[in-house]
Amino acid sequence: MKTKSTPTHVHLETFGCQMNEYDSELVRSLMKQDGFVFTDERERADVILMNTCAIRENAHNKVYKHLSELKKLKRQRPLVVGVLGCMAQNLKEELTDIQPLVDVLAGPDAYRQLPMLIRNAMRSQEEGLDQKGLAVDLSEYETYHDVIPDRNDGVNAWIAVMRGCDNFCSFCVVPYTRGRERSRDPEGIVQEAHRIAEQGFKQITLLGQNVNSYRFGDWDFTQLITAVADVPGIERVRFTSPHPKDFPPSLLDAVVSHPNICKQIHLPLQSGSDRMLVLMNRTYTNKEYRTLVDRIRTLRSDIVLTTDIICGFCGESDEEFAETYRLVNETRFHSAFIFKYSERKNTIAARKFSDDVSETVKTERVTRLFDLQRNIAYERNREYLKMTIPVLVEGDAKRSAAQGMGKSDGNITVIWDKCTVPSQPGDMISLAIYDASSTTLYAERPPVN
Ligand code: SAH
Ligand code: SF4
Ligand code: F3S
Repeated sequence: MKTKSTPTHVHLETFGCQMNEYDSELVRSLMKQDGFVFTDERERADVILMNTCAIRENAHNKVYKHLSELKKLKRQRPLVVGVLGCMAQNLKEELTDIQPLVDVLAGPDAYRQLPMLIRNAMRSQEEGLDQKGLAVDLSEYETYHDVIPDRNDGVNAWIAVMRGCDNFCSFCVVPYTRGRERSRDPEGIVQEAHRIAEQGFKQITLLGQNVNSYRFGDWDFTQLITAVADVPGIERVRFTSPHPKDFPPSLLDAVVSHPNICKQIHLPLQSGSDRMLVLMNRTYTNKEYRTLVDRIRTLRSDIVLTTDIICGFCGESDEEFAETYRLVNETRFHSAFIFKYSERKNTIAARKFSDDVSETVKTERVTRLFDLQRNIAYERNREYLKMTIPVLVEGDAKRSAAQGMGKSDGNITVIWDKCTVPSQPGDMISLAIYDASSTTLYAERPPVN
């Protein structure tokens, strides 16, 4: 039996979006309060947790692959395995298949119960029983407003301002895995922003599946982001993702005029075809999307726009794909995440439509769009050549510790030689851009004039 002098070591792996990264910080905080100790080494852990994503088939497969790797570890020593996050809901039904392996399942609204579930699972293992811990009920109220996340980064902090999603885009599993939309008390959010600033963080990203439906009493998202951007010490505020159907002019004004709110908007398009957009339940048209982009760019021509696109949704014809291709070609996003449609169990599309675009055609369309977007991103990034821009230093470049890495206001990665430009993570420095690829800006010390 583990005693207080031999703490239980937990290894936590996170898959999926920033919301999941944030939730892992909540999980670490809740479990540390309960005496658990976290380790980066899987081999040392008494408990292995996976915070999972269910958005596409390959996200699922990744988790199954990691789970099967744990089988061997579990044969060698006592080990509690927990699956958290968006897949926990789906896994509930498949638990019988993987029963010997998974001891605890906890959905995104059940993390307060996690320490108890894990202790019960450990006790049950010690007693030679095989009791599973299951907490997958979704809540209409849980916002973890009183839990202070256990943050690692030092420069960038996230705050989930709302949870869940009520949009029910027909392809998307999120409304089922994360439940109903609910917003967190703004006072708590602003207080958290002050604490984050005092801890030395420089950037806050406000998170929600659908941030522009944030509403708490009289507060809307514009008021919230402005209040956060006004917190002394916070140099940059970002948000993700707004829905193009209801982008309020006041939010746009705040982005354009507030110096601390980054001039960058992620605006998920999904498709350029009106018929697809109706089937997807996105509630805007190609024209409305283009009008919104024009409105944004008229107010601020240098704004960085990025997007998400799905290729090969149910019944998408060549001509309908061509409409997406044209829109991307004409809109010239700075970057785009381009996905093959992946049918998700229980969604409206899975129930009502047929996933009838072949894998080959989906791949072809993703490749064509990706090639187009890469060229556009290259040209867009080369617009920065010879410009001197402010860069928030994050740390070392992935490829070499001799290079520094940071982000532009538009969230584009910037790299430079550390020996010529000394800096610390969290510094805001001015750098001159001398080269650019489709993903990266290369910078040097600005010329003295
Ligand atoms: N709430 C966010 C989206 C989160 S999911 C928003 O609306 O902006 C991130 C992206 O995954 C979506 O924008 C969509 O492009 C993609 N996606 C979601 N479900 C998918 C599916 N079933 N197949 C392929 N891509 C999907
Ligand atoms: Fe999914 Fe649509 Fe909600 Fe985004 S807005 S999480 S795509 S249902
Ligand atoms: Fe995020 Fe994946 Fe869930 S994208 S909301 S972790 S399904």
